[in-house]
Amino acid sequence: MQEIDEIEVRPFSRREDYQLMLDYFYKADDSVLRGMGVDRLKLPQRDKWLDALLADHHKPEEERDRFYLVWMFRGERVGHSSVNSIVPGVEAYIHMHLWNSRLRRAGLGAEFVRQSTKFYFERFNLRKIICEPWAENLAPNRVLEKLGFTFVRRYRTVPGVIAYEQDVNRYELRRPN
Ligand SMILES: CC(C)(COP(=O)(O)OP(=O)(O)OC[C@H]1O[C@@H](n2cnc3c(N)ncnc32)[C@H](O)[C@@H]1OP(=O)(O)O)[C@@H](O)C(=O)NCCC(=O)NCCS
Repeated sequence: MQEIDEIEVRPFSRREDYQLMLDYFYKADDSVLRGMGVDRLKLPQRDKWLDALLADHHKPEEERDRFYLVWMFRGERVGHSSVNSIVPGVEAYIHMHLWNSRLRRAGLGAEFVRQSTKFYFERFNLRKIICEPWAENLAPNRVLEKLGFTFVRRYRTVPGVIAYEQDVNRYELRRPN
């Protein structure tokens, strides 16, 4: 894919990175949120969420709840991934979001996730990365299969604070040698 040269991932570094991420969630309509496993009613009040994100950003790395990467395409911020439940040296859970729906289904998401996993493996010295998308959300399931994640099991859970109860597919990727 020719566009690979125009893709870059970098850690969130400023308030605006978080604001753009929040725009993505708060401007999405209910069906879009539902399609990614999110319950609008569970979104925190926007300014409270931003405060919490910025407070977490300034914590020492080993105490952080989440670590965010912004996805850059042709110099523009077009999406993000994050990891949470980070156990340095062991594992973390990854999440993926290409904000601009017009850019989807062109191979960018898979390449961003590939570059993001590489970053997280190195930054946190992880042995494995786990992802648990809603089982009916085809795009992330396909991305993970394509990148060599192994399907482990399907089970019912509430996979996050803004998520509703759903069947998720658990995938794992071991650190490449
Ligand atoms: C998940 C996401 C990042 C994938 O990005 P993308 O750029 O659309 O993915 P790609 O174009 O790289 O596609 C990767 C594979 O998934 C397939 N795919 C992508 N979207 C699909 C869809 N809606 N239905 C079926 N297959 C899909 C592609 O065909 C491709 O497979 P192939 O190479 O075998 O043809 C993007 O769709 C997204 O941000 N979705 C909304 C947020 C979301 O649901 N996040 C997951 C929360 S767990």
